Amino acid sequence: MKTAVISATGLWTPPESISNEELVASYNAWADNWNVAYATDIADGTVEPKTHSSVEFIEKASGIKSRHVMDKEGVLDPGVMAPRIPERPNEQISVMAEMAVHAARQALERAGRKPEDVDAVICAASNMQRAYPAMAVEVQAALGCSGFAFDMNVACSSATFGVQTAADFIRSGSAKSVLMVNPEICSGHLNFTDRDSHFIFGDVATAVLVEEESIAPAGYWKILGTKLKTEFSNNIRNNFGFLNRAAPEGVGSPDKLFVQEGRKVFREVVPMVATMIGEHLGELGMSGADLRRMWLHQANANMNRLISSKVLGRDATDDESPTVLDTYANTSSAGSIIAFHKHSDDFKAGEKGLICSFGAGYSAGTVLVEKTA
Ligand code: COA
Repeated sequence: MKTAVISATGLWTPPESISNEELVASYNAWADNWNVAYATDIADGTVEPKTHSSVEFIEKASGIKSRHVMDKEGVLDPGVMAPRIPERPNEQISVMAEMAVHAARQALERAGRKPEDVDAVICAASNMQRAYPAMAVEVQAALGCSGFAFDMNVACSSATFGVQTAADFIRSGSAKSVLMVNPEICSGHLNFTDRDSHFIFGDVATAVLVEEESIAPAGYWKILGTKLKTEFSNNIRNNFGFLNRAAPEGVGSPDKLFVQEGRKVFREVVPMVATMIGEHLGELGMSGADLRRMWLHQANANMNRLISSKVLGRDATDDESPTVLDTYANTSSAGSIIAFHKHSDDFKAGEKGLICSFGAGYSAGTVLVEKTA
């Protein structure tokens, strides 16, 4: 069996960002307008008034301070409360593919690889902007890669599932160089009028180049092992889909956007992920003490604190479990890859780390890597 490695990663960050202060001001203005519009119903007790969101709550509950977005104006306009991303003609590259291409080019450059040397492209993300043709095929064409391409969706765990899929192609010999991209326009499926979750997500694109060890550039990351797990749950759900077009509520109505039972997710996913990491380490004859760093899924800072402390048997330092939540918020599948991309240059040969994602499904994936010289 061939050995799969990570040759390089890429990151593309949308230029616009929204602070908690800006987001809360817009939500509160929307809530005040809503309360005026429903003043009679509120007065006769048939509907509850909307209460204000708060910057302090958001930071304490999630660790998020700001997020990057594709369209700041639409999100912050109390009359819109959604990104307004203009539709593009079919002749123009689609938005998600464009984001992915930016991140992919960086990964290819960092690996010193030409697009034509890539023989498979996987687009792994929470939401594709269309049913078909696959986003990955458009990315493949835009870059000029050879071989084949396809999309896959395992929500927030898409990237680790994508890495294992790519690694399996390498291990079996069906590809030598696989580009896995994660364009995430999470602002498009977030309900910015839901106080409980309006602050959660941000937009970004990441890329991971998974290759056969024999062709990888110096300093690659050896993949020591990958492990995936799913367990059905309705606690994180998005019902949007092509069958909704005849739904009485209409496409894009709030219940066809992201919904979650945040508390339940917290309670159920933390032990599931901590156990899974422990099992995977055990299978490879390792323990938490062997890990120089954990690049965990970036959904909630408190959740990561708990998971990392269960793995290590003590609190992790920021260096051992870095966060990007403060500036990126939850970027679904891309989160752990951003953390890996931004916080891995200081690794020395022989040091080991863990990329771990978790989210809707439930789904979780672990990728154990070792830096080489
Ligand atoms: N501003 C101010 N107060 C708010 C608020 C906001 N934006 N949103 C909720 N609150 C209030 C609630 O009304 C509640 O008030 P109450 O105690 O008077 O009823 C209180 O804050 C606590 O709310 P709760 O939803 O229980 O907060 P929490 O501490 O569980 O944090 C999450 C909420 C969503 C941040 C947290 O549960 C979480 O991150 N869970 C995991 C989510 C996750 O990983 N999802 C994966 C997505 S891919």
